[in-house]
Amino acid sequence: MYVLALYGSPRRQGNTDILMDEFLKGVSANQSAQIEKVFIRNLKISPCQEYNNCLKTGECIIKDEMIVLYDKLSKADLVVLSAPIFFYSVPAQVKIIIDRCQALWARKYILKIQNPKSKIQRKGFFISVGSTKGENLFAGATLTVKYFFKAINVDYAGNIFYKNIDTKGAIRKHPTALKDMFQAGKNLISKL
Ligand SMILES: Cc1cc2nc3c(=O)[nH]c(=O)nc-3n(C[C@H](O)[C@H](O)[C@H](O)COP(=O)(O)O)c2cc1C
Repeated sequence: MYVLALYGSPRRQGNTDILMDEFLKGVSANQSAQIEKVFIRNLKISPCQEYNNCLKTGECIIKDEMIVLYDKLSKADLVVLSAPIFFYSVPAQVKIIIDRCQALWARKYILKIQNPKSKIQRKGFFISVGSTKGENLFAGATLTVKYFFKAINVDYAGNIFYKNIDTKGAIRKHPTALKDMFQAGKNLISKL
């Protein structure tokens, strides 16, 4: 069971990093889980330039660190994305990766290339926090992540969001968040 954990915040050891760590502790309860952590903030990845080469070949002509990530995203049995809300969406670093998945979208929808793992029910899970309390705080990011997961061929298995969390590490003071994350990771991996 290959689990790909995408840490999407630019802030090291910030709130979404902490939540992801707890979720992965729960996932580790299943000893067959092989977890790979990718810190998006450390990658050098160019934004999509809309060269559209991928629509013909399924390959992106920009040869940067995204190349390795395409492979991981195509193989993972579970993709977990943690990302804070930035202006009602995901941070730019995460959005760059999502846009570069146009190549995987093209493989699926235009070129109809079957991912060898497409018959397996691969899953995706989204973790987020925001500092405000608005009703629609996670609506924009959720839509983006749902279509990201669809493009890379994973089912949107669920999400956990916390509002009203702002300063670095503030999530640690939440009464249930860390326990909830552990339990969510444990539950999800037991269903795969
Ligand atoms: C550039 C930027 C934009 C943000 N936009 C929003 C926003 O639209 N809504 C909101 O509730 N919080 C917003 N925030 C606050 C973050 O979501 C919040 O501080 C969160 O706890 C950061 O999580 P992290 O520690 O995992 O990075 C923004 C923060 C930054 C730096």
